[in-house]
Order: sequence, then C-alpha cells, then structure tokens
Amino acid sequence: SLPSAVRIYEVGPRDGLQAESALVPTAVKAEFCRRLVSAGVRSLEVTSFVSPKWIPQLADAESLMAELDPPDDVRQVVLVPNERGLGRALAAGAREIAVFVSTTETFARKNLNTSVARALDNARPVVAGARAEGIGTRGYISMCFGDPWEGRVDPGRVADIAAELAGMGCTSISLGDTIGVATPGHVRAVLDAVVAAGVPVDSIAGHFHDTYGQALANVHAALIAGVTEFDTAAGGLGRCPYAKGTTGNLATEDLVWMLHGLGIHTGIDLDTLTDTSRWMAGHIGHPSPSRVATALTAA
Ligand code: HMG
Ligand code: MG
Repeated sequence: SLPSAVRIYEVGPRDGLQAESALVPTAVKAEFCRRLVSAGVRSLEVTSFVSPKWIPQLADAESLMAELDPPDDVRQVVLVPNERGLGRALAAGAREIAVFVSTTETFARKNLNTSVARALDNARPVVAGARAEGIGTRGYISMCFGDPWEGRVDPGRVADIAAELAGMGCTSISLGDTIGVATPGHVRAVLDAVVAAGVPVDSIAGHFHDTYGQALANVHAALIAGVTEFDTAAGGLGRCPYAKGTTGNLATEDLVWMLHGLGIHTGIDLDTLTDTSRWMAGHIGHPSPSRVATALTAA
C-alpha cells in the first residue's frame, strides 16, 4: 500500500547548483530558496560547507546563510564534509547538517579524496559534534546501485554502510543513485537489505538521479517498500561534478505530478514551483530538463 503523504527533500540549491560552472549570485540563490519555501517546500538543502577549491559555486555558504531566515517549520539543511565544515556550519546557524560517504573506493577518492573507511571515520566526530549541539545529521550514501568505475554495487555493502551511519548517530539515511542506473527491482533489493540491517524504513530517503529515466519508477518501488522521503531538485537541476556522465536529480515537478496523481499529499503547489524553476533556468542560462515543468510551461 502507498503512504498518504510524502516529504519532498529539495536539493536544488545544493545538489542542483553545485556543478553549474557560471557562478550564481548569492542574492539569486537566496531568492531561489525563498521561492521554494513559498511553493510549499519544508525540507530544503541550501548549500554546503565544503572546500571552495572543490566546489567554487558554493563558496558563498556563509553569506547565503546570513540572507536566509526561513519560517520555523522549515527544515533547512547544509552539507558538511569534515569537522572544519561542521565548525563553519554551526557558526552560520545551521539547524541540521548532512554528511556524505560512498560505497566505492573510486568515488570516495574522487569526491572526498579519501578511502571508504576513512570517510566513515571522518564522519563520526562530525555527527557526534552536531549531536552535541542538539542538531540532527542526515547521512548520504553515494553509489548505492552502481558506480561508473566499479560497476554494480552489492546491496549488502550498502546495508553495512547504512547501519554504520545509523549507529554513529545519523538521524536519517539517504540512499543515493548518484549516476541514475538503478531499476525498481534493484531498489527493492537494496531497501530490503538496509532494513534487514536494522535501519528503520522511516529514517530512509531515496535520492535518485534521472540519467536513465528510471527515477520515478524507482520512487514508486521505494514507496511500496515504505519510504516516505525523496530528494529532488526543482526543474531537475544538477549532476555530480565528480561522477562522469551524470545528469540531474529527479525533478521535483515530475515527482509532485506523480504523487498528486496517486492522491499522495506533498504540500507543494506545482504552479508556484514551476514558476520558480523557470525563473531559475533564466539565471543559469539553460532550460529545465523536467518533462512536467516543460509541459506546464507550454500549457
Ligand atoms: P583535500 O584536498 O583532501 O583536503 O579535500 P585538504 O584538507 O587538503 O583541503 C584542501 C583545501 O581546502 C585546504 O585549503 C583546506 O584548508 C580547505 P588550502 O590549505 O589548500 O588553502 N578545506 C576547507 N575549506 C573550507 N571548508 C572546509 C574545508 N575543508 C578543507 N570544510 C575535502 C578534502 C573533503 C575538503 C574535499 O574533498 C571536499 O571539499 N569535497 C567536497 C566535494 C563535494 O562537495 N562533492 C559534491 C557533494 S556530494 C554529492 O553531490 C553526492 C550526493 O548528492 C548524493 C549522491 O547523489 O550520491 C550527496
Ligand atoms: Mg546527488
């Protein structure tokens, strides 16, 4: 059976913008966040406190945070790679953070310049530090299905890492299909393995990139398995800068269209959201790849 409501976790300002080479002004990013909130978004990842040498687009994290003043019911999250990033995030008033690790050695090296084991060790004090400040930590796992260099990923490996993140205190776990290769049966197998490893299904989120056009089908499989939180980017923005051949996140519009069609509540107003994506596309200079955003714009 399907849930009656789903939490959309909007990653457009972070995952969506991080690989855009033309720098988006801080004021535009702040306006993007405000518009997303007025469209009904209540979980929003706004930026990351990573090395500005690695992600120049998000080097303005402090200034952006200073411009944001979301309502109390907005869960505003920032991505953090290490203790230095945690310090910056806390100083900027972060209410929740997200850490990120990979199932594969190649991607751990390319994305964090370390090994899988070291990435987990590095995450531990970050999660503990956030917890000591009374804020939650989302744990992202990249390459949960396949990796461009290492191929198919064993669901058991994802389950081990998810259990380790949950054990160190992550309050939710986002399972990333970084390169969009998952298919629904594979999603079910990974979810079954992660839940069997003791991670509660209500703490799991699905993070599907739409490279092979499977993201909505994958969400549907995850919904049936009991997952109620999904990561999407307005207009389908984004790709991972360190994983070749990737395209954007599942578009928020595409997911909202499907969920509303299924009678599942999201709290999101599709027209306001599509206006926001269109407005943002004007700022980044290329049109939205979202089928729903395109159809609603033409209608
Ligand atoms: P490194 O080069 O090994 O580390 O990078 P380092 O300690 O030598 O640091 C390099 C420079 O950055 C130094 O500056 C540090 O001080 C500085 P320098 O001495 O050369 O002037 N530095 C920092 N500056 C500001 N804030 C910090 C910070 N840390 C170091 N927090 C490091 C290691 C982890 C820093 C680097 O690899 C990094 O920043 N990686 C982030 C990469 C990233 O953001 N990737 C995209 C996000 S993950 C993603 O998109 C996947 C996801 O969506 C899920 C999915 O789809 O799978 C979440
Ligand atoms: Mg991603």
